Amino acid sequence: MTTTKATNITWHHSQVARKDREEILQQRGCTIWLTGLPSSGKSTTAYALEHQLIQRGYLAYVLDGDNIRHGLNNNLGFSAEDRQENIRRIGEVSKLMADCGVITITSFISPYEREREFARTLHKTHGLGFVEVYVHASLATCEKRDPKGLYKKARAGQLKNFTGIDDPYEIPLHPDLVAETERYSPEELACKIIQYLLKLRYLQSEDRRSDLNKAWTLYTASLAAR
Ligand code: ADX
Repeated sequence: MTTTKATNITWHHSQVARKDREEILQQRGCTIWLTGLPSSGKSTTAYALEHQLIQRGYLAYVLDGDNIRHGLNNNLGFSAEDRQENIRRIGEVSKLMADCGVITITSFISPYEREREFARTLHKTHGLGFVEVYVHASLATCEKRDPKGLYKKARAGQLKNFTGIDDPYEIPLHPDLVAETERYSPEELACKIIQYLLKLRYLQSEDRRSDLNKAWTLYTASLAAR
């Protein structure tokens, strides 16, 4: 993708290893990458997943396209170059967050296979888990849902380069999971993703986690009693 512009820069090494952070958090950092058309259900699924993980005692955090474009990426629009840069930055940020030990959930259209592959490779190269979830609903369904009225605007010619209408979406070739949002509720999809993470051992067994939760409950109760 981009090459490094700066010269005279040196890599500094930490005295702390990723496993030290993971030991504290009692979880392994990884990234769950949600991709799909606008209104396919990415954000709803992402926040349902975050909620369920937090309820189970895991540290999880959502990076959401619309939200990130209000801050970190507020200098980017929707040209092909800007979308590439948007996803390059999120690939890098999610890698850093996963390296911190956080279960990072990204919710971006991420329409290009090449950028999604970049994010996957970046994680794999650093020994980090990466799960690509294709959040799927037919274009007709997405257009019918249209909670922000953007498909309507695009059809009326008031919004140019809208993904699915006059801008491309490259369907993932080898997603790890497909989330069918026409068939399942966000809560059911979150459960399915969690089952997959348990199977791949990105999450611990439920038993160990509930032990941790019990210990935490006892600890907070003891603090409250002081
Ligand atoms: S991406 O293509 O660069 O991955 P991203 O997920 O960050 O897109 O942002 C998509 C969100 O921006 C949509 O949910 C929608 O609310 C808004 N949006 C505004 N204009 C467009 C457009 N031309 N195409 C797609 N989404 C748009």
